[in-house]
Amino acid sequence: MEIEYDDNNNFKLKIILIGESGVGKTNLINIIQDKDFCQNELSTPNCSFIMKEMNIEGFNFNVYLWDTIGQEKLKAQTKIFFKNSKIVILVYDITNKKSFTELENWHKQVKESLGDNIVLGVLGNKKDLFLQEDVKEEEAEEYAKSIGAKWGLTSAKTERPSFVTYMEDLIKIYIEKAKIKDKDKQIEETEKKGNIKLNSENIEPKKKKKCC
Ligand code: GTP
Repeated sequence: MEIEYDDNNNFKLKIILIGESGVGKTNLINIIQDKDFCQNELSTPNCSFIMKEMNIEGFNFNVYLWDTIGQEKLKAQTKIFFKNSKIVILVYDITNKKSFTELENWHKQVKESLGDNIVLGVLGNKKDLFLQEDVKEEEAEEYAKSIGAKWGLTSAKTERPSFVTYMEDLIKIYIEKAKIKDKDKQIEETEKKGNIKLNSENIEPKKKKKCC
């Protein structure tokens, strides 16, 4: 699995969140930015990302966390958007069965663009609405297992720390898969091979959606 570095020698790690409109992707990303939960229903108009420095197991990462637009628009940009992603989180809403069954289509697109050499997550959001649960935990866990993904459950509204922990767990899997052991050695090796930069120039600039 490829390792990349940023100019400050931190590991560069692109993580994307995908899933149906309304499952809570933007609100999950808000957690990482320490932004408040947002009640409004406006859709994300464009692909956009935030960068957050994280230290996991003693390694410094620049984590680029990408939010996505609705499925139709995304199809046209899939290749650019998925490019260089190391971790893909497939998000569903536990109260919306369709958002779960559609994960298979999202997974197909991920496989076509990135192959199998990535870390995959399947994440159920809106756990606070458990009384309206439409996707059984066992079913989701089973599905995640079948595609080699780590399953998780969270609520962007009431269980914000659990999303951070989930992300950290996925990054730990990446550290293992990418065999990140000795940072200095990895830097030397990467410099020898030549560093491949993320190319986000082709993405339309971030247009912020209105939020609380
Ligand atoms: P698109 O931008 O259309 O793709 O949607 P999205 O997946 O980014 O969802 P977003 O974060 O915009 O949330 C959609 C709606 O669900 C908003 O009204 C949020 O307030 C609500 N929502 C998101 N997460 C949760 C959650 O954990 N619990 C509850 N109760 N509502 C949530």
